[in-house]
Amino acid sequence: MKRLTLLFPAALLAGVALLSYAQTNLTGYWMFRVPQANNDGTFRDSYFELKQDGAAITGRAIQGARETPISEGTFQGGALHFVVSTPGRGANATPNRTVYDGKLVDGKFTLTSAGRGNPVSGEFLRSSKEAATPPAPLPLPDLHDVKDNGLVRTPPMGWNSWNKFAGRVTDADVRGMADAMVASGMAKAGYVYVNIDDTWEGQSRDANGNITTNRKFPDMKALTAYVHSKGLKIGIYSSPGPKTCAGYEASYGHEEQDAKQFAAWGFDYLKYDWCSAGNIYKDTDMQAVYQKMGDALLKAGRPIVYSLCQYGRSDVWTWGAKVGGNLWRTTGDISDRWLSLDRIGFGPAVPGQRTQLDIASAMKPGHFNDPDMLEIGNGGMTDDEYRLHMSLWSLLSAPLLAGNDLRSMTDEIKSILMNVEVIAVNQDRAVNPPRKISEENGGMSVVLAKTLADGSVAVGLFNRGEEPALIPVSWKSLGIAAKTARDLWTHQAVAVSGDSYTATVPKHGVAMLKVSAK
Ligand code: GLA
Repeated sequence: MKRLTLLFPAALLAGVALLSYAQTNLTGYWMFRVPQANNDGTFRDSYFELKQDGAAITGRAIQGARETPISEGTFQGGALHFVVSTPGRGANATPNRTVYDGKLVDGKFTLTSAGRGNPVSGEFLRSSKEAATPPAPLPLPDLHDVKDNGLVRTPPMGWNSWNKFAGRVTDADVRGMADAMVASGMAKAGYVYVNIDDTWEGQSRDANGNITTNRKFPDMKALTAYVHSKGLKIGIYSSPGPKTCAGYEASYGHEEQDAKQFAAWGFDYLKYDWCSAGNIYKDTDMQAVYQKMGDALLKAGRPIVYSLCQYGRSDVWTWGAKVGGNLWRTTGDISDRWLSLDRIGFGPAVPGQRTQLDIASAMKPGHFNDPDMLEIGNGGMTDDEYRLHMSLWSLLSAPLLAGNDLRSMTDEIKSILMNVEVIAVNQDRAVNPPRKISEENGGMSVVLAKTLADGSVAVGLFNRGEEPALIPVSWKSLGIAAKTARDLWTHQAVAVSGDSYTATVPKHGVAMLKVSAK
């Protein structure tokens, strides 16, 4: 009897709970709110629309403009389970399967998703169609030519946080990088900009619509003042969409307000990354969308270098300068691997696409193609590969934005990033496009040359192959009566007595010369 009375309330409670689960109908919009991995106090939100019929759950995951049906959905006794499968990349790839398991306890719903990476957990909250679906495109301005801001007549040099730190970058890291840029000699070698990439942003705007920072960046004004006190400049990052690529607050609908805020904080450089704008606008809108920020920056009250990042779509090199852009990305993201460097540098990534060389003549002082930041010193490539990286970016007049930890560089990495003779080729004020002198050995031995402002010619002898190669270049092919030549990596004179020069170039390596008629 005693046992029964004890059991009775428990059974009753369980019954009530079951009843409330039964009454809970999950039909509607939901938001899965996961704390960002870097613990900066912000969340990454993703959305679902669910339909419940008995214990069966159907519906879709909404990722911007992409909708994926969910499968295997059930909701029983407060336990939710469903799966989102997206096709794997490549012909025979297995699908990416993410399994979601949730639990509704005392009115609080928690969800865990397990896919390829570590499982993540967060709250599962009722949401709305408006929150789940991308906003409408904003009216776009008519096209016009934005006035040249007169900045960076030679390719910008500096550092950017993304390649090494990604979402982990903090105020302290940025200060540390500014210190190291000076202490290592990089500032003397020409590096100036210390650029914060994605993940500085706060969860939401303040009451006046001003963009805020998260707890990794407690005081932007103090940070910019610190970097300026070192004689350096500092950059920031945003997107024309509602969210950045890492899911943080961005500039959609606040373009002028954000430009003013960046200027008021003291920033000198903005990287403006397409990201979620792709859920709202078409690629053919890009020029107008980027023009809007170009105009806003000119009115912001401070000279700000404008860096476009839309992965080289819509032939950006034909209109990047017109929207006020000082540089524009020409490719997808680089990674610290030879294959990535080789594909971006020599391309094309996709047969038929243009290579960096094909579009090099689009550049002029103040307006540069940007094949992405440097990976030099990040550890995934050999020093030969990093030398090739530095040489190719210099011949291409590409921005030199180091992407490594400047506080802990080997002497070899320092000698690569601070090779002032190679940097001089990068910073040559004529910004002439390099030309292909020869391509042999099945495309693996490539000779490129760029005529410099003083009439001398910088030459790169590149070995993309897997074995050391002998790579020749005839003086005649350079269109110059060679009188002197210098090896820019050994820092020694090269004899010009014969008709040509042949370098022994290691696998994935480079030899670089400067040839003069004087
Ligand atoms: C995109 C850009 C990268 C970096 C990340 C940040 O992938 O191409 O350079 O800015 O976004 O989220």
